[in-house]
Amino acid sequence: MTLPITETIDCDILIIGGGMSGCGAAFESKYWSGDLKVVMVEKAVIERSGATGEGLSAINCYMGQRNGWNTPEDFVHYVVNDMMGLAREDLVYDVGRHVDNSVHLLEEWGLPIWKKDNGEYERVGRWQIPIHGESIKPIAAEPARTAIGPENIYERVSITHLLTDADDPQRIAGAVGFAVRENKIYVFRAKAVIITCGGASNVFRPRSVGEGLGRTWYSVFATGAAYGLMIPIGTEMTQMEHRFVPTRFKDGYGPVGMWFQYFHAQVLNANGEDYTVTRADELKKYEPYGSAVPTPTPLRNHQMFLDIKDGLGPMYMRTDVAMQKIADGDPAKMDKVRDEAWEDFLDMTVAQALTWASQNIAPEDTPSEVVLAEPYIMGSHSGEAGAWVSGPEDIASGEYFWGYNRMTTIQGLFAAGDGVGAAPHKFSSGSFTEGRIAAKSAVNFVADNPSAPTVSDANVRGIQETIWAPLETFEKHKGASSSAEINPNYMTPKQGLVRLQKIMDEYGAGASTGYTTNQPTLERGIELMEMFREDLTHLAARNRHELMRCWELIHRTWVGEAHLRHLLHRKETRWPGYYYRSDFPDLDDANWRVFVNSKFDAASNSWNLMTRPYKNIITSI
Ligand code: FAD
Ligand code: ADX
Repeated sequence: MTLPITETIDCDILIIGGGMSGCGAAFESKYWSGDLKVVMVEKAVIERSGATGEGLSAINCYMGQRNGWNTPEDFVHYVVNDMMGLAREDLVYDVGRHVDNSVHLLEEWGLPIWKKDNGEYERVGRWQIPIHGESIKPIAAEPARTAIGPENIYERVSITHLLTDADDPQRIAGAVGFAVRENKIYVFRAKAVIITCGGASNVFRPRSVGEGLGRTWYSVFATGAAYGLMIPIGTEMTQMEHRFVPTRFKDGYGPVGMWFQYFHAQVLNANGEDYTVTRADELKKYEPYGSAVPTPTPLRNHQMFLDIKDGLGPMYMRTDVAMQKIADGDPAKMDKVRDEAWEDFLDMTVAQALTWASQNIAPEDTPSEVVLAEPYIMGSHSGEAGAWVSGPEDIASGEYFWGYNRMTTIQGLFAAGDGVGAAPHKFSSGSFTEGRIAAKSAVNFVADNPSAPTVSDANVRGIQETIWAPLETFEKHKGASSSAEINPNYMTPKQGLVRLQKIMDEYGAGASTGYTTNQPTLERGIELMEMFREDLTHLAARNRHELMRCWELIHRTWVGEAHLRHLLHRKETRWPGYYYRSDFPDLDDANWRVFVNSKFDAASNSWNLMTRPYKNIITSI
């Protein structure tokens, strides 16, 4: 095989992904690292990459400690309840105690935060503050770029594999990827690596098809790389069965938090009933979480789902009622609330504003349909999938601590943001903060472990050939049919993606099956996934863009398989509204208030599933 040119870069710390947590990691690492060489590699361009690339309308994780709004202990209480009893309290507390500082830094760097006349921040809800957030990503990226130096940032380079030490597979050694705009493979050799490459959208068949294909709620660029890089080298993962099913405005995927909390809008069914009232008794089945305030996100979904299942839809967000109530007949007040309503989406989810415009919706006059979307697998928002990491030394102990905060079970491999499991509700600000925490720790690790790991040239050569194989496959077989998209010798990445999404949707409790599955269905899904993983060797790419799509699909497939295996292992329905096990329909706190963890073993091509204890560390809860 003729390979493209290879560039090898040696560094002390490698940050993979220049999103919210990657930028936090770059900024912080330079503060502590002195002469260490810190390199960041990003598949796009950091000013607009990742889930915050199209902007945000709020900072969803802010304690407001200087105003006495909330304590980190309050935050842990909230997060554990929202996760129906399962989150790592040490990790959540650690984000809570540091996040305000990150928000104040973002403001100092230019993020406009809405203020009251007395200068205090406005509030959307208990933890959320509104921002004029279209430019949050360039604001976070600039200090990251300045800190480590533009010459140390490799953009439009997509990482496909992690490298482990030739003498010790439990020690990280770097990463390999390719340039999406040049014929070049990059080999990064590093003493510590921080994985910050986001969550996973498009693992499940999305509701949008045909004309809207590609429109999802979470970023389409969140391709599961954080998980797809870590799983194959045997990193211990946690809560990969967890998913977030967001309630979203139909077709445009506009988020609902601002509408529920700031505008105090209600969602009513076609009969004008409020499921939070008519389905209030349903919550009693899920105590102690059912009576938590606010009602945990999955249970809110569950109440709405019961209405939808009973054929009481469409469900309408009564934007009209809410806006008219706020304006109270005053045209000036209506102008203000109309501006805020449109800004919520123009700041963050432009597609929703376009949907309103194209459907002649004036939100002050017309309600908008909301639906439960397809599942997303992630660790920074209302999902908690990711790596099992060490906690902070002052709070974590025993099974929660092995030397360096946010280090995974692979020596020298750190994670942050969507990459860290069991630590949700970080959002943009908490992910930035967790990147900072991981970077400080990685600097300590390199100080304690200054020798460079050994990288096997043969291993690198094998990875290079694997990366390039889809281009070779296309070259070899093109012309065997009259259409490049239909060829008996290969599959395109798009065809592969559709197959993955179909398996996940039908066997893994996707939207089309009412989020419901059981043991035989999961077992059959896993069989199909094993065959699919074998078939991925037949992927073909016509160009480097498609090559990137091939590797994104491979990463997403690891996520999908891990998700199915974890779902199978957890014999209960812990998060009704996110998914239902028809064979274990109840929450079983006595046996299953534990984390489900897994490790993949490449040598035997097998998965090991296990549980880890939940510990109540913050004793005020
Ligand atoms: P990301 O910020 O997504 O960064 C991941 C980075 O890794 C990206 O730059 C990506 O290009 C890069 N990458 C991926 N794969 C590779 C690879 N193979 N090689 C190299 N680089 C790679 N949060 C709030 O606080 N408030 C809000 O109002 C809010 N609204 C949201 C609305 C939407 C529509 C979305 C999608 C998210 C919203 N969030 C909000 C959540 C917030 O954006 C995320 O929690 C946060 O961005 C997660 O940070 P991260 O660093 O883990 O991932
Ligand atoms: S966004 O990040 O894509 O904007 P979303 O709008 O759903 O997500 O949520 C924003 C914030 O509001 C999150 O912290 C979420 O948990 C919270 N939230 C959404 N709906 C409600 C609700 N009905 N009650 C309480 N909190 C809510």
